[in-house]
Amino acid sequence: MSISPRPPIPSFLPESAPFSPQQRAWLDGLFAGVFGLEGGVTPLSKADVAKLLPGLIDAPADAPAETDDAAPWHDPAMPLSDRMKLAENRPLPRRMMAAMAQQDCSQCGYNCKDYADALFTKKEKRLNLCVPGGKDTARVLKQLYQEIEAGTPAGRADAPAAPVPQSAPGRSRGNPAIATLLSRYRLNKSGSNKETWHIEIDLADSGLDYVVGDSFGVFPANDPALVDAVVAALNAPADFPIGGRTLREVLTDGVSLSPAPDMLFQLISYLTGGERRKKAQALAAGQDPDGNAATLDVLAALQEFSGIRPDPEAFIESLDPLQPRVYSISSSLKANPGRVSLTVDAVRYEIEERARLGVCSTFLAGRAEIGDKLRVYVQKAQHFALPADPNKPIIMIGPGTGIAPFRAFLQERIATGASGLNWLYFGHQRSDFDFFYEDELKAMRKAGHLSRLTLAWSRDGDEKIYVHHRMRDDGRNIWAWIERGAHIYVCGDALRMAKDVEHALIDIVVAHGKRSPEDAARYVAELKKNDRYQADVY
Ligand SMILES: Cc1cc2nc3c(=O)[nH]c(=O)nc-3n(C[C@H](O)[C@H](O)[C@H](O)COP(=O)(O)OP(=O)(O)OC[C@H]3O[C@@H](n4cnc5c(N)ncnc54)[C@H](O)[C@@H]3O)c2cc1C
Ligand SMILES: NC(=O)c1ccc[n+]([C@@H]2O[C@H](COP(=O)([O-])OP(=O)(O)OC[C@H]3O[C@@H](n4cnc5c(N)ncnc54)[C@H](OP(=O)(O)O)[C@@H]3O)[C@@H](O)[C@H]2O)c1
Repeated sequence: MSISPRPPIPSFLPESAPFSPQQRAWLDGLFAGVFGLEGGVTPLSKADVAKLLPGLIDAPADAPAETDDAAPWHDPAMPLSDRMKLAENRPLPRRMMAAMAQQDCSQCGYNCKDYADALFTKKEKRLNLCVPGGKDTARVLKQLYQEIEAGTPAGRADAPAAPVPQSAPGRSRGNPAIATLLSRYRLNKSGSNKETWHIEIDLADSGLDYVVGDSFGVFPANDPALVDAVVAALNAPADFPIGGRTLREVLTDGVSLSPAPDMLFQLISYLTGGERRKKAQALAAGQDPDGNAATLDVLAALQEFSGIRPDPEAFIESLDPLQPRVYSISSSLKANPGRVSLTVDAVRYEIEERARLGVCSTFLAGRAEIGDKLRVYVQKAQHFALPADPNKPIIMIGPGTGIAPFRAFLQERIATGASGLNWLYFGHQRSDFDFFYEDELKAMRKAGHLSRLTLAWSRDGDEKIYVHHRMRDDGRNIWAWIERGAHIYVCGDALRMAKDVEHALIDIVVAHGKRSPEDAARYVAELKKNDRYQADVY
């Protein structure tokens, strides 16, 4: 049987769009995917493309300002290599931005663009602050930073470092406040595959407040058993003095013991010879000589090169700083004066029979004792807030830990007597084990505060039911709520769930708003622009 070649996808892009053939092909594929079309395409105008997916291309000169800052790579689901391709002919700060994980999560203390700008102008020198981007981002930033150091035309090597303004305690990661861990309880019933905790923190002595939609930053401490194992692998005394502290203290709360950084392998390469040196050099260069690079945390790296005796100070220098993590706030101050709560999934997995622990989630889930003082800060939300008009209806889509800010929204709307309708989509693995805040939500439903509660259980039956499946089933009602001015919110997994929810929303606008796929995508983009479709995803 002969297979005729697939016809090329006609271009959606105007001839004048400023893309290389490779970028054009990628973007056309994206549009074809978005619209589910493969033929009969009329090229969109440049202004249309700019409006359709804001930031995708620079709009013509008379277009609104929002497209001036085009960053087509600003998509947390896009692989790093694709992001760097899209940015390849851009000025250095834009390429630095493309290297970030694009979550605007603020764990580095900036959003992605501002972190890149701060590096470019040398206000910030630390290249390893992007938590979700990890080593891959740090590596690309290091290469790009060399362009600044080399004084290429794109860089401004001698830009003076501006003083960083000091905020009040607890208002930024640079100046945390102290708060007290008050209580925690597990949200899953025993038998669940998951381990998610409701965490309460007392803010009384911290002077901190927050509004619903904000996130909360926590500085964790490493697992003492892991610290001990690293000290033993180093063969150094735990009380070895380092900058006025002991080696154990610095390993506990000063440095990350998670993925072994390139600098550590570089250090190891100076301490070894022959094949071991070659291997360490390859690992330092981002290669994977034995196919296990992704499994090498700091301890595994020391064990891989057993027998080396690095100077403890040089060893500490080679590690990355221990970063805070942020969590969506799951309470309203109006319902819980002086307190904040978080909804934290404990990250635990095993590699080669050793338990690996997510540093902050397991710190909050167990290692921190009730009554312990924590270093914390409030991360203000940029575009994630209840509608200013309390009469507006809201639709909240939050599977898993994504429910966190919506518990806060509901508490706030109840406390303020807001009359707008509230619709919550929650989903998780199994209804018997993973129904977070079940009693509270049922009570809110009974009292009429929660107008609709729609649940999606992915592992109750043979078929995976996700929140976006339920949304499609409810398309007519969702459209009716949107027409009545509803604000829509999504929180949780950025890589898959949030994309699927957005596709479902576009499909609902097509089916019930009677629009073409192109118009529906524009409509949803417009909702976003008007802050009527907001996301808090990670
Ligand atoms: C704005 C925002 C809001 C957030 N809100 C919440 C929230 O409400 N609740 C919540 O729980 N989290 C939330 N997070 C995520 C949170 O910040 C942390 O990223 C999360 O708790 C993991 O941090 P950790 O320190 O425990 O794990 P880390 O030490 O950072 O380890 C996590 C890393 O471990 C690796 N990993 C995880 N599982 C596996 C596996 N099975 N196999 C191999 N490697 C694996 C991955 O590389 C992963 O990136 C939010 C993030 C952001 C940016
Ligand atoms: N991409 C990732 O690496 C990834 C993804 C999710 C969460 N996380 C991390 O895991 C931690 C907590 O996760 P969580 O407690 O919020 O739960 P979760 O793992 O996000 O799961 C919540 C629910 O969402 C379902 N789900 C999976 N894919 C989906 C999709 N495409 N659309 C809609 N629903 C989908 C899950 O189903 P099934 O599990 O049965 O498929 C489950 O029922 C966080 O630290 C988060 O950052 C990482």
